[in-house]
Amino acid sequence: MSLLDQINKAAYARADVVGEYVGADGLFETERVLLARLAPALRGKPLLDVGVGAGRTTRHLLEISDDYTGIDYTPALVEAARRKFPRARLLCRDARDLSPFADESFDFALFSFNGIDYVPHEERLQVLREVRRVLKPGGYFMFSSHNRECEHFNKMPWQTKPRLSAPYVKYCLYCLAHLPKHLRMRRHEVHADEYAVVNDNAHGFSLLAYYISAPAQLEQLRRAGFSSAEAYDMDGHPTARDTRHPWVYYLARK
Ligand SMILES: C[S@@+](CC[C@H](N)C(=O)[O-])C[C@H]1O[C@@H](n2cnc3c(N)ncnc32)[C@H](O)[C@@H]1O
Repeated sequence: MSLLDQINKAAYARADVVGEYVGADGLFETERVLLARLAPALRGKPLLDVGVGAGRTTRHLLEISDDYTGIDYTPALVEAARRKFPRARLLCRDARDLSPFADESFDFALFSFNGIDYVPHEERLQVLREVRRVLKPGGYFMFSSHNRECEHFNKMPWQTKPRLSAPYVKYCLYCLAHLPKHLRMRRHEVHADEYAVVNDNAHGFSLLAYYISAPAQLEQLRRAGFSSAEAYDMDGHPTARDTRHPWVYYLARK
């Protein structure tokens, strides 16, 4: 297992991190917009929820179809999701190996909340290949990913325009408290032409996350064999490239 994998898996298995996901239930705005648009076509069809965590999206996808499968590689999160949704099909599986699922078995796959960003680059490409393999022709893959072109990318708050507000000061203190850990984690960062892997503020600077621009991600999806792909900003609007938001959403079609 790569060091990146070890670091990220250990972070997701932590009790405090599991606890944060257990409380999550609502959809993000772009998820709401895109799922509302896709729901009529997906009614009753097989849906795959990759990196389901503690089941934030489970209820919303079950409202579209009972033919639902959620997977995650973190056993404690799968257990938490099972407690919330005892009747749902929830499996402990890694997105890099979807071999339990036959070719062309799903109409829709979701990898929400940037979950795809926690595997190394080559394995991310493997995830894209696996998701494409299990999708039916014309099937959709929806996910979000960290935005390398965001104006705040890889910056501490004091490296951006300072603001005189309580949340800004609180955030500066949070970053300062974690600075020693961040400086240790930074040794593992990768800055390549196509993407970067950086230690951002998530879960107390505990993760190494993949960041990519919207144009580079769309090109990656094209190379992985998806026939079309669109990018959306965090307000649910189509975007060609985005410098304002920390994530970008993608809707790709096999
Ligand atoms: C940011 S959390 C989001 C959890 C959930 N989707 C949500 O929105 O609350 C990312 C999730 O992806 C899972 N994950 C990351 N890499 C994975 C992989 N290779 N295979 C399966 N799950 C993975 C983690 O265990 C974690 O539950």
